[in-house]
Amino acid sequence: MSVLLDGKALASKIKKEISEESKRREAAGKARPALAVILVGEDPASAVYVRNKEKDCLECGIKSVPYKLTADYGEEKLLSLIDALNGDPAIHGILVQLPLPPGYDERRVIERIDPAKDVDAFHPVNVGRLTIGEEGFLPCTPAGIVALLDEYGIDPTGKNCVVIGRSNIVGKPMALLLLRRNGTVTVAHSRTVDLPSLTRNADILVSAVGKAGFVTPDMVKKGAVIIDVGMNRNAEGRLCGDVDFDGCAPLASFITPVPGGVGPMTRAILMKNTLYAAELADEIG
Ligand code: GUN
Repeated sequence: MSVLLDGKALASKIKKEISEESKRREAAGKARPALAVILVGEDPASAVYVRNKEKDCLECGIKSVPYKLTADYGEEKLLSLIDALNGDPAIHGILVQLPLPPGYDERRVIERIDPAKDVDAFHPVNVGRLTIGEEGFLPCTPAGIVALLDEYGIDPTGKNCVVIGRSNIVGKPMALLLLRRNGTVTVAHSRTVDLPSLTRNADILVSAVGKAGFVTPDMVKKGAVIIDVGMNRNAEGRLCGDVDFDGCAPLASFITPVPGGVGPMTRAILMKNTLYAAELADEIG
């Protein structure tokens, strides 16, 4: 039977460390890290994510500065708000919750965020830094997954790593981070032919598809590490990942649960990135 990769426990540990660092900063007369969180529109899932991020901030001694905007706020006004936050020395990180409502150009909005405040690491400058291995913000979900692998002593070096999904938020940066950790990486996607033949060779299998029950036991190598990034609702409305957990867990060496695996790690890294943004601001002055 496999070992559960307990993201909830590791995220709590990381958040506690951040909270202690926030206190040390305060004692040293440094600014409390501050994160602007912008939510545009009424998407219910986004509203839940944003609420959770605000809770995390509170736990970590980070000031959260919420902006809840109506869907008709408008792109130009949103860009002006980002300009103001970019120029505000009391704000260290800026997060625009995605997806934006129809009519907004997401790329244009993300590219307006100062790369030094881009705690999601979505700006092309930070994507470029990740690609060439320079220091900078790391994208929250992939960095959270690598932190979880590290915690359990799982080293991707020389391993066959298969990432299912090629999104800018998860699949592509996950592949780059595993490559940085010396994994042999394959990125599979909706046009991949004979996916099971690839995944059956995976020592580390990361699924970021968004379909409940997508990864079935016949796709899994015995002893594989399975990372489930999916956040789906099954037919009964229960939160579940991409992986048929009950079928695949007996085959795996390690597996993430949903909930309690990748999700809490994503949020913990966001807090870490916000602290890093405050440290960057200290350096720049
Ligand atoms: N929507 C889904 N995941 C994310 C994320 O990590 N950051 C932002 N800003 N929006 C998201």
